[in-house]
Amino acid sequence: MRIHLTNLGAVTLLEPNNFRQLDVLIDPQPEEQLHQAVARIGTWGEDDHIWLSPSVMRFMSDHGGEPAWEAGFAKMLAYADEHDWVNAEGNVRAHLVYSDSDEVVTQDEFKAAMRALPAGVSAISTGRGDDVAGMIVSSLTSISAEPPLIGFFVHENSSMMEHLLANGTFVANVLGSCHTSLMASFLSEQQGPARFKHGDWQLGSERPPVLTDALASIECDIVNTTILGTHRLFVGKIRKSTVKEKEPMVHFNACTYRLQNHEEKAIA
Ligand SMILES: Cc1cc2nc3c(=O)[nH]c(=O)nc-3n(C[C@H](O)[C@H](O)[C@H](O)COP(=O)(O)O)c2cc1C
Repeated sequence: MRIHLTNLGAVTLLEPNNFRQLDVLIDPQPEEQLHQAVARIGTWGEDDHIWLSPSVMRFMSDHGGEPAWEAGFAKMLAYADEHDWVNAEGNVRAHLVYSDSDEVVTQDEFKAAMRALPAGVSAISTGRGDDVAGMIVSSLTSISAEPPLIGFFVHENSSMMEHLLANGTFVANVLGSCHTSLMASFLSEQQGPARFKHGDWQLGSERPPVLTDALASIECDIVNTTILGTHRLFVGKIRKSTVKEKEPMVHFNACTYRLQNHEEKAIA
């Protein structure tokens, strides 16, 4: 097993079924960030190691409770105990491996690559009554059909962040080419009801605003969020959805486009 203390805010457990190796891989990162990451998984040892909490490892493995995994994990802990690698608190000693190279593209290179990616545009809504909030995203993506999950990414400075975290529900309204003024008010108005002045919104006290003429309105409960770099991933379990056949809005190279059916080719 290897626990990776990334420099993008996430701590992940790799190779959960490898019980013959245990170490901690550390990306180059500010000391304060590293100390916070270590506090999530255990405590610092005196020399070049960390004492890992077995219950944290079980949680991170995604296999806790599975008989075969539990048997392998118990064997690994017993082997560590025999070698005096388990301390009085029951934590296990793991070596540190420092990754020294972390070559990445520049922000300009990143943006150029992402501008080449065509994407749909959606208006995410949350809250109810007078306390509503919304944002435009192009990061909405399908995750899983069983259970039905979608997700999107929100910048840490977005005014939408606190509303999503407080409400725990959202509607992803997939926009059509007819929704340009709706998109403009979402992008220019203050966060709150003012963003919903354009468009055929169904505003009620029961659920977040639903755009009645959206290509799809997908009503979700937030079931998971993860911080990744400057963004937080929101994963929603779909409770209800409605679909309308319309022309979509497509975002590409910092512009929005209509989709024209010059050539239509079915996949598979
Ligand atoms: C086409 C388009 C797609 C966008 N996609 C995202 C996105 O996926 N995630 C995100 O955080 N912001 C995205 N933004 C930026 C937000 O819509 C918004 O402008 C930004 O979060 C600032 O919002 P605020 O004024 O509510 O803080 C996108 C903007 C546009 C124009």
